[in-house]
Amino acid sequence: MIDIRSDTVTKPSKEMLEVIVNSEVGDDEYKEDPTVNELEEFAADLLGFESGLFVSSGLMGNQISLLNHTNPGEEVITTEDSHIKNYEHGAASFLSRIQFRNVSHNDGDLDLDDIVSQISKSSYYKPKISMVAIENTHLASGGTIIPFENIKKLSEFTKSNNLKLHVDGARVWHAILEENTKANYGKYCDSLTFCFSKGLGAPIGSMLLGSKDFITNSREYRKKIGGGMRQVGIIASAAKYALENRSNIIADHKMAKEVFTEIKIMENKIDCIESVTYKGTNMILLNFDTLRNSDKFLKFLANNEIKAGYLREKVIRFVFHKDITSDNKEKVIKTLQSFS
Ligand SMILES: Cc1ncc(COP(=O)(O)O)c(C=O)c1O
Repeated sequence: MIDIRSDTVTKPSKEMLEVIVNSEVGDDEYKEDPTVNELEEFAADLLGFESGLFVSSGLMGNQISLLNHTNPGEEVITTEDSHIKNYEHGAASFLSRIQFRNVSHNDGDLDLDDIVSQISKSSYYKPKISMVAIENTHLASGGTIIPFENIKKLSEFTKSNNLKLHVDGARVWHAILEENTKANYGKYCDSLTFCFSKGLGAPIGSMLLGSKDFITNSREYRKKIGGGMRQVGIIASAAKYALENRSNIIADHKMAKEVFTEIKIMENKIDCIESVTYKGTNMILLNFDTLRNSDKFLKFLANNEIKAGYLREKVIRFVFHKDITSDNKEKVIKTLQSFS
């Protein structure tokens, strides 16, 4: 089966398993796991932050950031379709007791004028807005990159308005490697979390980054919500291996682009597909006219040993990752060509 439902479905390679077996470990609650310590330092240095904290998931990184940056009853500006708001099991209202305020955006890139207008509408009878959360790459639009220059502009604005800026960078390496810039996020953002278990291809774990104080507080929050860890060098080593080999992600982008190009050629022959989008990273979105047709299409793929899935109703996504070989890619293209 070729599994292109998500970039979370990858399996550890032999090399990664070897690294895991040879990990040095210690008790991380005493800060004595050398592999975790190295990983946290390595990640913080790469993105220009003071400190890092290894957490079990992207969700945990996002939610600890909210706990740090907000007080109950306050508001966080984000996009209406963001992960932190929609796909975290209501954790923000459960843990931080905040609410979200939507602003207009273009593929995850927030409209500064709209933020200004939302803030100027703030009043004594409206909640205080304390934080802005962006997502790079932006999942709901198909993995779009928010240009780093725009993040800098947003940061100028948040700093001058006393707002915290958090980046849900579950797939931030896709953006950084594709833009090919020195992404000094630490200089511009208050916190960032990225996932090792998505395109980077490790089995588990995310990194939360911020100032020294932010990470000290985050360590407490992690413990409070049951995320304390012990000899987790065995997973931190896999995460470190994945991060050291991050440039492999570019091959996924290339593959997605090739498949997209082929789909564009055959698009007119497949009536039920209304449009196909590719935003320059590892995902392709196929927008169908009806749910019946998108269901039928998924079944057709499954009958041909290809597992794809929905991003949302009528929108099927193909996600490319390290376990998709060039032969797999050819098979996907051939299968699509045979659809009628
Ligand atoms: C954009 C984004 N943020 C956060 C997460 C949460 O990551 P995790 O599944 O590790 O909790 C995901 C997961 O798919 C995601 O796509």
